[in-house]
Amino acid sequence: MAINYDYKNKNVVVTGAAQGIGKVVAKSFAKAGANVAIVDLNAEKAEEVAKEIAQEFSVKTISIACDVSNPDEVIAMAEKAEKEFKTVDVLFNNAGINLHGPALEMTYETWSKVLSVNLTGIFLVAKEIAKIMVKQGHGSIVNTGSMSASIINRPQAQCAYNASKAGVVHLTKSLAMEWIEHRIRVNSISPGYTATEMSINVPEEWSKVWMETTPMARMAKPEEIANAVLYLADESSAYTTGADLLVDGGFTAW
Ligand code: NAI
Repeated sequence: MAINYDYKNKNVVVTGAAQGIGKVVAKSFAKAGANVAIVDLNAEKAEEVAKEIAQEFSVKTISIACDVSNPDEVIAMAEKAEKEFKTVDVLFNNAGINLHGPALEMTYETWSKVLSVNLTGIFLVAKEIAKIMVKQGHGSIVNTGSMSASIINRPQAQCAYNASKAGVVHLTKSLAMEWIEHRIRVNSISPGYTATEMSINVPEEWSKVWMETTPMARMAKPEEIANAVLYLADESSAYTTGADLLVDGGFTAW
């Protein structure tokens, strides 16, 4: 059951919002009254999602095509968000990819690609949006980590992804401490296996092991991740910064 947060007159930027967790979180913010910027590599889908949300919830939406690992595109994205919205109250910094493969066979290109989207991308977007938040004197940033920041997934090998997510969780703490004087809170959520395209389209032998090793024996619904994001972004968590909230069906407790 969702809590009724009030995000009326708040402006929210969501990256990786064309599908999956990002799309559901963007919808949840809009349902609570927020205007949302749909940021994604996939311009066409971002545009569709922005239209869909505006129609369904009667809020202002914009779509911005942006590769979060490209510094110039991120600067342009933040400029557009500021021009359209004037302020940005919340950033859900969520775009991410996973490229699997054993470390001994992993190419430099694969390693770099995962790190540049999942870790450098989180930094670049946080930095440019935080500049807007510094000017307005407040803000709340929620970065998407993963339970892979704390555990090693089985049976698939994914060292670059695991390292990138551990980086996100520690980067979150660093930024939280640097920006506390600007009244910007920075937290992360760390989902377990969540039913999106990233985790559904995998070999059956993987999902079998995932369900055997997840205490709740199911994947999270993206809505269950959204509830955690809206809590961390909201004033009801005003004393929480530099924290990582695991939403993993008990996975890391076992
Ligand atoms: P998804 O693959 O369904 O959606 C990811 C979105 O990010 C897509 O719309 C894609 O176009 C966009 N994207 C990819 N690279 C981008 C780039 N360079 N710049 C801008 N946008 C880009 O994945 P999902 O499941 O929604 O994942 C969202 C976040 O949650 C990711 O950071 C992922 O690592 C994390 N996560 C997902 C879990 C899962 O089981 N699905 C578990 C734990 C964390």
